[in-house]
Formats: sequence, structure tokens, C-alpha cells
Amino acid sequence: MKILGIESSCDETAASVVEDGRRVLSNVIATSLEEHKLYGGVVPEIASRRHAESISGVVEEALRQAGCTASDIDAIAVTYAPGLIGSLLVGVNFAKGLSVATDIPLVPVHHLRGHIASNYLSSDIEPPFLCLVVSGGHSHIVAVKSYTDFEVIGKTRDDAAGEALDKAGRTMGLEYPGGVSIDKLSPSGDENAFTFPKPKVHDAPYDYSFSGLKTAVINIIHNSNQKGESICIADLAASFQKSVVDCLISNFESAAENFGYNKLVIAGGVSANSKLRSQAEKMCKSHGWSLCLPELKYCGDNAAMIASQGYYEYKSGVRAQENLNAYATMPLDDLQY
Ligand code: KG4
Ligand code: ZN
Repeated sequence: MKILGIESSCDETAASVVEDGRRVLSNVIATSLEEHKLYGGVVPEIASRRHAESISGVVEEALRQAGCTASDIDAIAVTYAPGLIGSLLVGVNFAKGLSVATDIPLVPVHHLRGHIASNYLSSDIEPPFLCLVVSGGHSHIVAVKSYTDFEVIGKTRDDAAGEALDKAGRTMGLEYPGGVSIDKLSPSGDENAFTFPKPKVHDAPYDYSFSGLKTAVINIIHNSNQKGESICIADLAASFQKSVVDCLISNFESAAENFGYNKLVIAGGVSANSKLRSQAEKMCKSHGWSLCLPELKYCGDNAAMIASQGYYEYKSGVRAQENLNAYATMPLDDLQY
């Protein structure tokens, strides 16, 4: 079965053809990232306009690179939630139009389920497993019971890990996205130069909280500016990254121990982080657990992961109606469409 995936939830306009959920025939991505760098974060209005300009060319190119025409496609899978509403609507409306015009069934895909499926593109891993999903908008610990049955065990109460890294990076004067800049700068800094509090959420051992850590790093910079003291940004970046990764790993490890998982998976934009990848490897090795990480090219937003998850949703009978809408928020374990 060939699935055409379409993704437009943030600043990447992406289309991909994936066979049987696993074999990527094409993976095309156009991004408006460079324009957003000027503003230190994604400007939703600019992102939606660029999606509208790029989407037909991106989909055409994905079909061309896969050696397909629309008649070879068995289903269209589209990200319909969560994300920037103006961005999501471009992908959803394009997919609906294509589905009606070609009579190809349409499958709605949750963006975070797609991130989890990015792992199916580079390995033969199958559920059940425990997944840490860390992106710019979400930090979740998810029990993946089957390809379409999920239970959120823990999540952030405030900022997502990627959001905290991006905001801290911006205050450090680093290029957007801060998560990427902090990862690049950290090897040249001392990760023990600064110590940060270890945030814990009372009565919710698997939930995260990153806003206090983010504020702590911002206060260090503001205080040093006020006093006219210089601080080593590489040391600060490395120390902050270490404390974010320690938090992510610590709850993930307790969840795996307490729920009895020995197959661990990481997904989402922050899964590209080198410190997170190496700490996760170390943790899994010490317990004798297996670890699956997406290939770097599938960590960020892409449509191959949407096509992959779309395949499994399709097989479980999920179909969109012609009135499919987009939603800025949607729990990953209780879908409405
Ligand atoms: O999954 P994603 O591409 O978009 C969302 O669904 O949010 O994630 C984007 C996030 C941004 O916060 C970005 O800073 C972060 O992923 N990110 C990283 C790295 N690469 C991307 N964070 C830390 N280290 C990286 N190497
Ligand atoms: Zn994403």
C-alpha cells in the first residue's frame, strides 16, 4: 500500500510517499525557517502564507520522486492536529481537495503519533514500547500499546522541553532555534559550571515542568547584564542542556521501571539532541533495555512519519469525512475528527 503523507503543522511544508508504513519512496520538505530566524521564533502568519505557496509544488515533487501518479496512491494521510491552526488548515484543505478530486480515501493523523512513527522508518521496531515524545510544543511519556492505542503517562505542566531550550537560547543571544544552537555550542562548554534546581511535580512523578529552569537561566543572564559581569555562554548552554536532559531521562527511567517496559523509544524534534541521545543510550545499557531513536533526518517535522502512521490508522479503519477540520490542540490518546 502506498500512502501520500502531507504535513504542515508548523513551519515545514512536507509531502512524502511511504510504502506499507515503512519504506520511504520520497520525502520532500520546504521550510520557512530562515524567515522566522529574523524574529527569533515562528511567525504564524508567515508560516501559513508560505505553506499556501509551497504545498502543491511539494506534493507534486513527492509523487514525482516516488515515481507515482495520484492513481498509484491508496490513501492520503494528513496532519490535522495539533499545531498552528492557520498552518494546519493549509495541509488539511489541500488534502481534502485532492481526496475529493481523486476519490482517494483521506486519513487524519495526529502530529505526535506521527513523530512516534518516525521510528518505524529506520528500524523494524513494533509496539508495545514506552516513548518519550519531545518537541517544540510537547513533552510526553507515552505508553504505545499498539500502532493506534496510546496512553499518556506523563506530560509537561508548562513549557515543552524544546520551547524551554528555544527561549533560553534566545536569551543567550543564540540563533533560532535555540535547541539546535545549544546542542552545537555545548561541547565547547563546561556542563557543571552552573547548577539548576531539579523540578519535580508534586504527586505526578512522570510529569515535567521546565518553566522554572527556563526562568533560572534567564535570571542568570539578566543579573550578569545588570552587574556588568560577563558569563561564558558555552558553559551556560552546556549546563542548561544537561539539566533539561537529566529531567527528561529521570522521569522516563522511573516510568519504564514502574510500568515494566524494556523497549524504549524517543521521538520529536528534540530527539535530535546529542546529549539526550547519549544519555538515553547510557541509561538503557545500564538496565539492559533496548533503545530506538529516529534517524536524524526524521527527528524534525516531515511527512514520511505522517504517511507511516497514516498507514496504521488506515488499516485500523480510520477515515476522515469531507468536513474534516484542523485543531490547534488535541490529546494524542483521545482523538476527535
Ligand atoms: O518536532 P519539531 O520539529 O516541531 C514541533 O513539533 O514542535 O520540534 C522542534 C523543536 C524545537 O524546539 C527545536 O529547538 C528542537 O526541536 N530541536 C532540538 C534539536 N533539534 C531540534 N533541540 C535540541 N537539540 C537539537 N539538536
Ligand atoms: Zn513536530
